[in-house]
Amino acid sequence: MASASFRIPDLLIKKRDGNALSPEEIKYFVREVVNGGVQECQLGAMLMAVYLKGLTDEEIVCFTGAMKNSGDVLGPWPAEWEGKIVDKHSTGGVGDKISLILAPALAACGMKVPMVSGRGLGHTGGTLDKLESIEGLSVSASKDKMLQILTKVGCCIVGQTDNLVPADKKMYAIRDVTGTVDNIGLIAGSIISKKAAEQLNALVLDVKFGVGAMMVNEVKSRELGKKMVDIGNGLGIKTVALMTDMNNPIGKMIGNALEVAESVNCLHGNGPTELEDLVLRLGGQLLFLSGNASSTDEGQMKLKETLINGGAARKFKEMIIAQGANPEEAEVLCTNGADVWSVLPKAKFVTPIKSKYSGFVFAVNSRTCAECSLKLGAGRQASSDKINHSVGLELCVDIGDSIKEGDVWIKVHHDCDVIPNDIRALLNDAIEVQSSQPVILPTRVKDIIS
Ligand code: URA
Repeated sequence: MASASFRIPDLLIKKRDGNALSPEEIKYFVREVVNGGVQECQLGAMLMAVYLKGLTDEEIVCFTGAMKNSGDVLGPWPAEWEGKIVDKHSTGGVGDKISLILAPALAACGMKVPMVSGRGLGHTGGTLDKLESIEGLSVSASKDKMLQILTKVGCCIVGQTDNLVPADKKMYAIRDVTGTVDNIGLIAGSIISKKAAEQLNALVLDVKFGVGAMMVNEVKSRELGKKMVDIGNGLGIKTVALMTDMNNPIGKMIGNALEVAESVNCLHGNGPTELEDLVLRLGGQLLFLSGNASSTDEGQMKLKETLINGGAARKFKEMIIAQGANPEEAEVLCTNGADVWSVLPKAKFVTPIKSKYSGFVFAVNSRTCAECSLKLGAGRQASSDKINHSVGLELCVDIGDSIKEGDVWIKVHHDCDVIPNDIRALLNDAIEVQSSQPVILPTRVKDIIS
């Protein structure tokens, strides 16, 4: 049967007047975005109409499904993997190296994790950039190569191929220049369409709020989390979201190679407690959701076991070798207690910064830390910028620690001879010290949306 055909101006008028588009109209529009049947001005007009008039829940699910089907999807996966194909998405944090630990830990529990990840832009770092601190490692893989790595290892972390969700690429470029990025429905559709193209059984979303998050406001962030959970489930992927506090950095390290080093420690069960907590809580949800644990607690216990028995570290080693890392160097990187800095890029200088105050560490501003790390060269302002994998920040305190004036609270890893004054000034203001000890929460997970 010939597929339905519509006039694009009619669809624009319908949405402009606040009416819901039918599934056929949405599929037609998205298909024509990719086929070149929608002019850029028409796409901009549609995005603005959606921004102003919104989409119903049904429209958003249909729109996301149409985006997912606009190009290649991963798979088909082998039938025996059914119920085991899982992934996580984070809305972007500071010091967020969760994927590097979680993907191998899940693989060590028998899961298949076809993680398609992104690069850093602006204040948030990118998982792919962190991985590329490892000499020789490639983050590009064809569908066949992904299948091969997943069969052998169980996890891979790679970039988006050109033809995965091409409608999102076109729409994102136009959203960027038409003031329509900041819309919960469009953001949720964009994110979930890319995860849906992985053909997952279960998805956990790490939805951040707080100064270091893409969406600072907790209420708005929760709205985004709820929308993504609804779309994911609407497309048949078991989806939950954890709402996590992104006011303070995750773990102690910020910067590409520094975060790889911290991840390796965590893979051996020696990472910061709150970093491990987040890994286990996210992964516990996935094992439970996919039916591979009888509760989230049991899922967490299974994952913890892989951090203790070496299984997760072994999977990380296998994954990076499969993605091109030198096997001898991978062995050094993944051996508990070995000198990881003999194989990771190391900054020329490390300068300690001292506290100007005495009291208790109340907060460390994650946004400021990210901005400093970016200025040092660890991130990019424009997508064409080159990054320096070796530079970054190393926190020397935990929230709640007692601190005296003159104590070192952070170390700057840098390649320039001296730390620029603006970075020093920003860091001096990044730590908040108070006279009384703050209440320490056991986890940065504030809520679960299921
Ligand atoms: N990340 C995405 O992938 N899409 C958006 O629209 C925003 C953040």
